[in-house]
Amino acid sequence: MISVISTPNIAFTKYWGNRNENLRLPANDSLSMTLDSPTVRISIEPAETFSVRSWNVDGSEKTLSEKNIARFHCHRELVNRYLATLQTEVSIIQPSPRLSKKSLRGAGWSISNYQLSIRSQIPSAIGLASSAAVFSGVAKAYGELLRREGLELTDEQISIIARLGSGSACRSIQGGFVAIDAGIGDTIDSAKAVQIADNDHWPLHDIVIAPSLEEKKVGSTEGHRFAHTSPCYAERLRQMSRRQRECINAIRTRDFEKLQRVSEKDALDLHKVAETSNPPLQYLNQETHRIIGEIETLRKEEHLAVLFTMDAGPTVHLVCTEESRDRIARYAHNQPHCTVFETKVGSGAHCQHASTSTLS
Ligand code: PMV
Repeated sequence: MISVISTPNIAFTKYWGNRNENLRLPANDSLSMTLDSPTVRISIEPAETFSVRSWNVDGSEKTLSEKNIARFHCHRELVNRYLATLQTEVSIIQPSPRLSKKSLRGAGWSISNYQLSIRSQIPSAIGLASSAAVFSGVAKAYGELLRREGLELTDEQISIIARLGSGSACRSIQGGFVAIDAGIGDTIDSAKAVQIADNDHWPLHDIVIAPSLEEKKVGSTEGHRFAHTSPCYAERLRQMSRRQRECINAIRTRDFEKLQRVSEKDALDLHKVAETSNPPLQYLNQETHRIIGEIETLRKEEHLAVLFTMDAGPTVHLVCTEESRDRIARYAHNQPHCTVFETKVGSGAHCQHASTSTLS
């Protein structure tokens, strides 16, 4: 059995919309901070057929919808398609009849029949990147299976496997601050994650306030599909490479004010696109706007280094420095009827106590 622990990430410049839906090739670059919690544990073991099971925090088994199960099957098919491209590369490198044993062996690399078990501490579909944590964990587990078979993948290659399940998942393979290089073209490996700085670079915290644990009606997979119907989307895409450069620069130089400016602008811009798309997607609610307003006042009055950002849900992420953390956590815990998660920059998906002889 192989076990992997993985976590969500919070984006400062956000991925919204794909240039190729099936391959989840993003339309723009993005950049996030990998969080250290809440966690997902993915276990994988040989089985008669490929199957997925999921457990709630209280230990009871969750019933996965047909749509959810299909997503894992579809992901595995895409992963095998990707692995087949790696095999082609091997034989192109050595096209002579004297192919080495390893490259011949390469022709058999694929993910076959396993049972995937998911134990998640993350409420799903509230804007806390639960699918990013799940698919980064699955990708890391597949990577470990392949490593035991003799195919050592790089973090960037594992990030491609993660991206095929959930675009933003590729940013949770590595820790610290990670960008998606969207790339160009339509090949399966043309977009991948690249680490900008590791988790020791800047000890930022993310105090997460979830006003509601109710699952959103339109998930981000569908949301991406509607992005291009918004009249604001083309302008958003035009701004993204400049924002990405600014964001990378802010992180490298640990310039919090700059990071705040670019990430708040980008989050509000994404929601403007979502709200003006067809159908309109209203992820934020009154509570989100109330919290944003109060945070703007609080940081002005108390000179706090804190920024707000929201993914596809009403949940507000308050990213702050070590110095501002206690004050922001106190504010968060004072919010009525809200669930609070105190997280910080994390180290990315990693194998837990893996045992041997797992491959069928
Ligand atoms: O990876 P997906 O398909 O769940 O998309 C995530 C989209 C956002 O969370 C809204 C933005 C981001 O970059 O994480």
